Amino acid sequence: MSKNALQPPRGTRDFYPEDFRRREWLFDHFRRIAHRFAFEEVDAPMVEHAELFTRKAGEEIVDQLYHFEIHDRHLALRPEMTPSVARMVIARAGSLRMPARWFTISQNWRYERMTRGRKREHFQWNMDIWGEPEVTAEAELVGSIFALLDALGLARGDVKVRVNSRALLEESLRQGVLADRPEIFEPLCIVIDKIAKVGPDTVIGQLVDPAGGVGLDEASAREVVGMLSARSLDEAAGYVSPDSPALADLRRFFDLLDAYGVRDQVVFDASVVRGLAYYTGIVFEAFDSGATLRSICGGGRYDGLSEKLGGKPLPAVGFGFGDVVIAEFLADKELWPELPRPLDDMVFALGEAERPAAVAIASRLRSQDRRVELVLGSPKLKRAMTDANRAGAARIWLVGPDEVQRGVAKVRDLASGEEHEEPLDA
Ligand code: HAM
Repeated sequence: MSKNALQPPRGTRDFYPEDFRRREWLFDHFRRIAHRFAFEEVDAPMVEHAELFTRKAGEEIVDQLYHFEIHDRHLALRPEMTPSVARMVIARAGSLRMPARWFTISQNWRYERMTRGRKREHFQWNMDIWGEPEVTAEAELVGSIFALLDALGLARGDVKVRVNSRALLEESLRQGVLADRPEIFEPLCIVIDKIAKVGPDTVIGQLVDPAGGVGLDEASAREVVGMLSARSLDEAAGYVSPDSPALADLRRFFDLLDAYGVRDQVVFDASVVRGLAYYTGIVFEAFDSGATLRSICGGGRYDGLSEKLGGKPLPAVGFGFGDVVIAEFLADKELWPELPRPLDDMVFALGEAERPAAVAIASRLRSQDRRVELVLGSPKLKRAMTDANRAGAARIWLVGPDEVQRGVAKVRDLASGEEHEEPLDA
């Protein structure tokens, strides 16, 4: 076998016990916050029909698809959860209680160029609300993001959420570049999403490139890019009519954030459009305020997806929160807690003759739901003590010939060092 085959494929991870403990700690927080907001967990297969993901707006995510043919079927590992959730909602749209609040914790696959915080598989916590057209849903979601960040121990001010509205952008372009060609809006969003990474000149070049799917003239491309520099709602308001519905939505959204106590952590930024084609309304991304990492999470409203996938029109809004970026950020902030091996009791038989008594004690403790290691083999007691201490166990049970004869076990409290005896048949 080649050396290569003994490594996980580049960009993927093995989870050793200590890694898995961290992963579970984070996922527990995801679940806890989702439950606090009355979201229900759902799941779907990691492999879907490739067609579910192959949209044609020029999104990176489509080129990054892990896909394969098997028995004449074209399948793909999911690069994101949203199309699968949409598929599930569509199948039951007639009977679901709306708004449906669903969350998932899923592993996603994208053949990415790797940088810090970007891998070829990652887990995402998704929170989506289906069937609610008003921005009360967006506000609830942003509220849940900050509830999570608080629970992880991050300080207010560590993370900023940047918000824009595709509906606002669409309104401001409707009389102009979109007047005769509304279909270029999606590819246009995909191109301008890259502005922070590639700069305005490259974006203008791509917007005017006739092969690029947008094909603006240079003056229009410059105008579009100019709009992206707005950093306040009042500035952005200049591009739309005073009675713009998108503007009213944004204002209401910001007012609601006040009630959630997170208004100061959220800023308007016209350059945020997101790199996925299906968004139609408010979009948002969270970043560490030092801006050293890629986005911690991102989402928005995607009212058109249900119809695009063949369902009935259904409003939807949600976000995806990755495990990789937040892990880096928690490490930078030294916020990962000590997560020792889960152990409450260790049971140690001094010799093989005492093993049956030790097994009986371990069984009794396990039936009380305690986490018990019955020491196997015949290591030195000192080594067992060190192991138990390292794991933060509460007690070690010692069963020697003398104890068995007297019908007891010796119990040492590892924190205090105190010992007492417990009857074997208790
Ligand atoms: P996304 O922006 O592609 O959105 O991903 C959401 C989050 O997943 C990112 O902010 C990042 O934390 C994490 N992420 C994405 N790609 C990678 C990667 N290659 N390596 C590590 N982490 C990554 C979506 O996927 C949408 N489906 C979210 C959504 C749900 N919108 C509505 N509902």
